[in-house]
Amino acid sequence: MSEGATWPAGRRITITDLQAATDRGERWSMLTSYDTLTAGVFEQAGVRALLVGDTSAEMVLGLQTTVPVTMDQLIPMVQAVVRGTRTALVVADLPFGSYEAGPEVAVRNAVRHLKEGGAQAVKLEGGHRVLPQVRAMTAAGIPVMGHLGLTPQSVNTLGGVRRVQGRGAAGDRLLADARALQGAGAFAVVLESVPADLGQRVSELLRIPTVGIGAGPYCDAQILVWQDMAGLTTGRLPRFVKRYASLRDTLLDATRRFTDDVSGGRYPDAEHSYT
Ligand code: KIV
Repeated sequence: MSEGATWPAGRRITITDLQAATDRGERWSMLTSYDTLTAGVFEQAGVRALLVGDTSAEMVLGLQTTVPVTMDQLIPMVQAVVRGTRTALVVADLPFGSYEAGPEVAVRNAVRHLKEGGAQAVKLEGGHRVLPQVRAMTAAGIPVMGHLGLTPQSVNTLGGVRRVQGRGAAGDRLLADARALQGAGAFAVVLESVPADLGQRVSELLRIPTVGIGAGPYCDAQILVWQDMAGLTTGRLPRFVKRYASLRDTLLDATRRFTDDVSGGRYPDAEHSYT
């Protein structure tokens, strides 16, 4: 972790630290993470908060959408990310089906993420429809991150998960949702796949941090799915994804050289054998 005087080095970052960074105009970053080793790398690189996202459904479990992933599948990943970090704030996603039924079930599942997983906060998707859940969780002492714009858990009603959200009148509705989430006690709001000017309007309106993913440059923080950021995923990616490495090529090359060495009898050699 790069040690700014203003970020704690010897303890976990809290939602108060994220708010303070936002108040002083410092942009901070988040990534998704689902395992111990990547979590440690991201923290060392200065990522302040890690999201154990329900994108693990696609990135880890090979599922087609985020809809099927369960609390029982997410919790071991939350535990792994917590074990791999010392200072990053760990946010655990509430998967589809773990909060829609009402505040009581939302609190029960959020408590599991904190007690069993070791997370410091949870995230859920939606605006006005989830306000009772957000109020109940924050009243129970659980920090809650909202998620507006493209909400992949609603794939079956959105008509696809690649669509930009919040154009035209929908922008005003999103603005109202964002304000309502803040009023209900959310400590931050993810804005996914919305026009940059809407990202700016929401960021100017809210006191709490906005975390953009395809929401333009005016958000207080940015998040990406790490496999997209590092070039492990293949195929057509959304416009907002910037690849900072070609991990798939690197891994492919290393694996090909390993299998070539094995089939050619060059591995293991004397150097990699016990006497
Ligand atoms: O689950 C996830 O990874 C997310 C991010 C895309 C924000 O919600």
